[in-house]
Amino acid sequence: MATIPEKHQLPELPVFPGSDYEREPIQRFRAAAAVQIGEAWGEDPAKLFAGVDTGKRGYDLALAIPRFKKGKPDEWGKKVVEAFKPGPYLASVQHEGAFLTFEMNKQNFAFAMLNTINEMGKRADAHPESKTEAYGTSTAEKGKKFVCDFSSPNIAKPFHAGHLRSTIIGAVICNLHEAMGWDVVRLNYLGDWGTQYGLLSIGFDRYGDEEKLAADPIRHLFEVYVKVNQDNDADKAKFNAGEITDPESTTHAQAKKVFKAMEDGDPKALAQWSRFRDLSIKKLKETYKDLNVEFDNFWGESKVKPESMQRAIDICQEKGLTCEDRGALLVDLKKWKMDRAIIRKADGTTIYLTRDLGGAHDKYEMYNFDKHTIVTAAAQQLHFKQMNKTLELMGEPTAGKINHVSFGTVHGMSTRKGTVVFLDDILTEAKEVMHQTMRSNEAKYAQIEDPEETARIIGSTAVKIQDLTGKRINDYTFDIKRCTSFEGDFGPFIQYSHVRLCSVERKNPNVAVREFASDIDVSVLDQPKIHEILYNLALYPDVVKSAYKFDEPSTIVTWCFKISHLVGSAWENVKVSGAEQKEAEARLFLYTQIRRVLNHAMRLLSLTPIERM
Ligand code: ARG
Repeated sequence: MATIPEKHQLPELPVFPGSDYEREPIQRFRAAAAVQIGEAWGEDPAKLFAGVDTGKRGYDLALAIPRFKKGKPDEWGKKVVEAFKPGPYLASVQHEGAFLTFEMNKQNFAFAMLNTINEMGKRADAHPESKTEAYGTSTAEKGKKFVCDFSSPNIAKPFHAGHLRSTIIGAVICNLHEAMGWDVVRLNYLGDWGTQYGLLSIGFDRYGDEEKLAADPIRHLFEVYVKVNQDNDADKAKFNAGEITDPESTTHAQAKKVFKAMEDGDPKALAQWSRFRDLSIKKLKETYKDLNVEFDNFWGESKVKPESMQRAIDICQEKGLTCEDRGALLVDLKKWKMDRAIIRKADGTTIYLTRDLGGAHDKYEMYNFDKHTIVTAAAQQLHFKQMNKTLELMGEPTAGKINHVSFGTVHGMSTRKGTVVFLDDILTEAKEVMHQTMRSNEAKYAQIEDPEETARIIGSTAVKIQDLTGKRINDYTFDIKRCTSFEGDFGPFIQYSHVRLCSVERKNPNVAVREFASDIDVSVLDQPKIHEILYNLALYPDVVKSAYKFDEPSTIVTWCFKISHLVGSAWENVKVSGAEQKEAEARLFLYTQIRRVLNHAMRLLSLTPIERM
């Protein structure tokens, strides 16, 4: 354990609600400001604590006087300035208009920051299985269960841009919850049930090829699906033209029959489907591995218990929530401007909503979650509103616990090979483009141990960062050339910053890597650039909390770019090589701590931080 040198030891402070001095040193400085203001005004500092924000200068804290005091802010400001006592936390105070701004004691702040990140980093290294050891994490939600339903592609249909977004965003949401102490279950709710699987089954009898199925099940099943859909359309046209007279002989009617048999538990109908499902999952797992995403449970629409769906239908009927239309049963949500929604089709089979209603019950039985999030495209907003309203009207314990996180559309996603996009193709293409770029610098390229793997990681970083940069609800245009660029705020830049931070140690073998913050002299770190960096490191825990609170990964991405730019502009002024020993050691220590925090942020974003490129 590190010892804190006497000159950096900080006096005790009252513990305010929401404060965590151990994990977030900047809060001590905020608390110290609250105490001083409280004394000057005769106010409870606990109340003021929440109002002490970070300032704009890169080393200061600010409080908006009108938030707490009516009347002339000038008078209230003056009181604080007059009573102010400089000390180990705060060096000075200024009063400007409606604001009070405090300058932190820079040396103590620097020490507290570097010491905390370093010590927590060592703890995190020693307990890699724990997600709440590193700087930026919290244990506030410990003991609570969070289930996230994300990615959830449909077997036999391509894994489209929406699924890619759900996978990427969902993975970050899970990581953020873990960083706050939640016990997280990652659930893949496969679209593996419905009339289309009857259609697929017929299609496979007509066009299936065992070898192709084994080699690439997702692609082959999709081919089959496309062909049988063409048959389906052709049949429909023929039927309308009177060329087919028996409605039972159409592809559509046959597909419905097969699906009905599946729902009735017919082993023959199920055997085929079950094989498709297993093979698809096997293939999906490989792709998820490439994306750094793992699931605890490959569940799916087919796994929802028939009795849970029946139960939902029964409760809806008992509570008088339903109406009938041409043999179908619907929940009537018009009163809430949510239209009417089918929960049982005319032929007695279930539908997406029925399965989500039954599924809510099953998932709750399986996990007894405190919170459940489902990540899908914004197009499904109405569906989830209907689901939540129905659960509420049914009086279910899950009502109010299921949260729909939605996102905008990706435009222009196509690869050189065609307009139907398979995730594998996107990742392969990103990798190839990256590999080409890397080759253009021969000397560096020669030093990379496994260029293929490095290109793969940076490629997937590029795709992910492109997806996570804007607010999730916004649409964006997929652009493989742009997002793999080394110039500008794209994924490769973040990896590059991490690589540079790793390389300072490598490139300066003569500078000692110090173990404790007390081994360095923070007084040599008195440079505006450094204060700004430390300050942005200090904001990191709030950035994580905000991303978590709003399920908004872009907040973390913005921070990564900010810190990357700051570090990028520090290399010139804050050099390790050529600096005097004391300075060199302190600077190297600083870079190590920046690397730790950037590394953590990248992992939250489900990236693999690389060390050389
Ligand atoms: N499979 C669905 C789709 O591709 C997404 C499922 C989301 N989860 C849920 N519980 N409905 O659109």
